[in-house]
Amino acid sequence: MAFLFNSDAERAKIFAAEFARELPSLPFVADAGSVDPAAVRYLLTWTAPPDLERYVNLEVLFSIGAGVDQFAIDRLPKNVKLVRMIEDGITRMMQEYVTLAVLALHRDLPGYLDQQSAREWRMRPVRQASERRVGVLGLGNLGQAVLDRLSPFGFPLSGWSRSPREIPGVACHHGEAALTDFLATQDILICLLPLTVETRGILNASLLSKLPRGAGLVHVGRGPQLDTDALVAALDNGQLAGAVLDVTDPEPLPADHPLWRHPKAIITPHIASVTQPETAARTVIANIRRHEAGLDLIGLVDSDRGY
Ligand code: GLV
Repeated sequence: MAFLFNSDAERAKIFAAEFARELPSLPFVADAGSVDPAAVRYLLTWTAPPDLERYVNLEVLFSIGAGVDQFAIDRLPKNVKLVRMIEDGITRMMQEYVTLAVLALHRDLPGYLDQQSAREWRMRPVRQASERRVGVLGLGNLGQAVLDRLSPFGFPLSGWSRSPREIPGVACHHGEAALTDFLATQDILICLLPLTVETRGILNASLLSKLPRGAGLVHVGRGPQLDTDALVAALDNGQLAGAVLDVTDPEPLPADHPLWRHPKAIITPHIASVTQPETAARTVIANIRRHEAGLDLIGLVDSDRGY
């Protein structure tokens, strides 16, 4: 029974070395063509292979990324466990990126970049961190890690999630009914929601209109959660002062999309957070050990919730 690694060769090398050291009795395969699918017990991949039904002895399907929306979850065999990647490298990178984005919006970096392009030397209005309320949509492992990293700056912090959470130093809101009141008090809104049927299109004109005028948006969830036309309109009419987007729909945006050149938008190509093979290999190995010991897996996806 083997572990099949279905991703790039560079990361495969690092995974293979870690597996050889930690799980020498589990054959590690990095080329799907060289193994009988029936011999694969564990598969790590970004998307399900087209011939998944041939992997008849598959027990755990590991996503190489934090998200699992790229899998058609309801079509996966019920006996196969699907696991999100929860690993320190992804977490640290997301903390860095969101801190960068929040500070950029807080200190009006888009405005200064615009002034720089016009060779304009002028101070813009500034607010203290204690007067800039920052809120996260989605309080999973990444949402909580981001709030933790932001806490020393002194922003009033809050969060919203589907089910109740308690996080020290963070005003937590939950459920559909609490969303409007939560939005009304966020000067910078960070989206870290998983993509599900409920969250597709959630960042629409109605949601953006519920934020205080002049709010900022940091989008690090998934592209299809955001209505980009609504975002452009909100940036143009002043409802939003700025946006930092790491995900878009489609990716990349078409060359003529107005967001590319929008003076209030900063766009990066889905690089906020990338699985780091050294730390990820350790997480996967720990999860295999947990699976073999009959323990709950870290990052196990609930197929009804979709994340
Ligand atoms: C990236 O978006 C990931 O899911 O890790």
